[in-house]
Amino acid sequence: MSPAFVLEVQTNREEEELVESHEYHDGVKHLCERGLAKVPRKYILPALDRPFMSKKDGATNLKLPVIDLAKLQGPDRVHTLKSLSKACEEYGFFQLINHGIASESVLNMFQAARKFFELPFEERSKYMSKDQSAPVRYGTSFNQNKDSVFCWRDFLKLSCHPLSDVLPNWPSSPAELRQAVVNYSKETKSLYLMLVKAVLESLGLVETAKNADENDSCDHLEEFEDGSQLIVANFYPSCPEPDLTLGMTPHSDYGFLTLLLPDEEVKGLQIQHEGRWVTVEPIPNSFVVNVGDHLEIFSNGRYSSVLHRVLVNPFKSRMSIASLHSLPFNSMIRPSPKLISDANPRRYMDTDFASFIGYMASHEHKNKNFLESRRLTD
Ligand code: OGA
Ligand code: NI
Repeated sequence: MSPAFVLEVQTNREEEELVESHEYHDGVKHLCERGLAKVPRKYILPALDRPFMSKKDGATNLKLPVIDLAKLQGPDRVHTLKSLSKACEEYGFFQLINHGIASESVLNMFQAARKFFELPFEERSKYMSKDQSAPVRYGTSFNQNKDSVFCWRDFLKLSCHPLSDVLPNWPSSPAELRQAVVNYSKETKSLYLMLVKAVLESLGLVETAKNADENDSCDHLEEFEDGSQLIVANFYPSCPEPDLTLGMTPHSDYGFLTLLLPDEEVKGLQIQHEGRWVTVEPIPNSFVVNVGDHLEIFSNGRYSSVLHRVLVNPFKSRMSIASLHSLPFNSMIRPSPKLISDANPRRYMDTDFASFIGYMASHEHKNKNFLESRRLTD
């Protein structure tokens, strides 16, 4: 990008003067409904942080490793566990096919979320909250109280555990939202538990069974069963100047595993792989699953919580549904003692949700800064 162009981008923003700062906090969708021809300065990333800055970035689409749940649950389990372990070490991501969740449940979840974002602003805005641990939170950017540059993204975050406590707080409109999220959260939770079992086996923490059914008495699992779950519906409006901003800036997810349903029509998710940004090619009827910070810590660094970001599209809006899972809010997250030895010393401090939430509230969420703050230096 030539310096002249950068200068022009910074100075030629007449409509920006018309946007009051509180309006950025009302969300990108609300702002776009005014018919923006340019990206307001609030969303313009410093030149070096913009997408498409390096020729290498995004030049190729990436086929992530594919894990077939049907094979994981059958006689091919041992072999599939090896692929799972390789994917978590080398990519921090994989695509999960034959996941067994009914397409109706997925469709209902997407539809309910889409209808929520289509509600009049006054209705949506009832759920805005500055409290990072509120059971329901509609908001924008990443951490709108801290971000100096805003992301081109609005979100609805719903805590899902324990269901009976959180449910009455969820939006009552659109009418089908609660039921759709209840069904979807239950299904993703049981899928997550199957994956956790596989992850524990792949790390050598429980004995490898010939197939999943033989290993039902896995004692580690209780804590995971009682774990936290957060469903996040992300909405990325189309953007008039997609090379100036991002839907989500580079980040890692904090939990154990994230199960993401990306938009099947509109690409946008990029992961950092071998030093460059690569675009994930969606596979119909599949999940993108990624290792979060807590699993990186738990595995003492063997599995990687990998940086990812989201591009926005000049013509189409994009939606995704993420289900973030971890241990219970009051649990300590620490490297599994069985994975620590003289040859492989402990690499992370103990951490808990309270310190994570405290960290998030007081820092701009950037790159892997939370995880870095937990790393032990030798
Ligand atoms: C997330 C995330 C990616 C996407 O919600 O943490 O990385 O494609 N989403 O929306
Ligand atoms: Ni993420």
